[in-house]
Amino acid sequence: MALLDVRELWVSYGGVRALKGVSLAVEEREVVAVVGPNGSGKTTLLRATAGITPHQRGSICFASRELTGLPAYRRARLGLIYTPERARVAPELTVLENLRVGALLLRDAQKARATLEEVFALFPCLAQKKHYPAGVLSGGEKQMLLIGRALMAQPRMLLLDEPFFGLSTGMKQVLSQVIRTLPQKGVTVLFSEHDLKAATSLAGRIYGFCQGRIIFAGSSAEFLRSNAAQRIYA
Ligand SMILES: Nc1ncnc2c1ncn2[C@@H]1O[C@H](COP(=O)(O)OP(=O)(O)O)[C@@H](O)[C@H]1O
Ligand SMILES: [Mg+2]
Repeated sequence: MALLDVRELWVSYGGVRALKGVSLAVEEREVVAVVGPNGSGKTTLLRATAGITPHQRGSICFASRELTGLPAYRRARLGLIYTPERARVAPELTVLENLRVGALLLRDAQKARATLEEVFALFPCLAQKKHYPAGVLSGGEKQMLLIGRALMAQPRMLLLDEPFFGLSTGMKQVLSQVIRTLPQKGVTVLFSEHDLKAATSLAGRIYGFCQGRIIFAGSSAEFLRSNAAQRIYA
């Protein structure tokens, strides 16, 4: 069974139907992208999976466990860690302090120290600036800090909402290279992105959203060969 298995998910905000029967599955150690225009339902899918937005119908299974009704903090304890779109670091705390916030879930000081070293190995620029207040970091470094903070919780799966938002092409590549190595460390990744180039170059598989429905599911190569991009952005 897939690590994450979402079936026939329906989510409404009052009268607005944001997800209309969405089904998707992510296998352990995959990197998968959800793409689509603004308002197509990407954030709603990630928030519903993380347990922040309730769903009205359908099921979400993670590691063979039904998550429906489980609050967000319990899902996080199962290893499902969510980084919201345009998330912010705590600017007045140092880089190190921001990272330690991510480890609060671990409740194991020794594990937290080892994980911190792993995060610094992935993001050497964070190690260099560990005593700087996070507010002085560049946009790219802040995004690295957010992902580093999520990794401090030792996730089994990361849900990243538009991790490349606002970054330069060079910084997108640096961040992509790091995310690409996460499956080797046992971390599965589901991320949202509207830049199709960034999405298809990083993800092995793509789900294409349009108005709350999935209208494409397949490999990145199939996505690029198909007319899915035109249909999604029609
Ligand atoms: N808190 C909310 N209240 C009401 N409608 C919302 C809310 N959040 C999102 N929506 C609506 O749900 C739909 C999907 O939005 P969203 O999941 O944010 O899409 P995306 O992340 O792809 O831009 C849109 O029509 C949006 O206007
Ligand atoms: Mg969004």
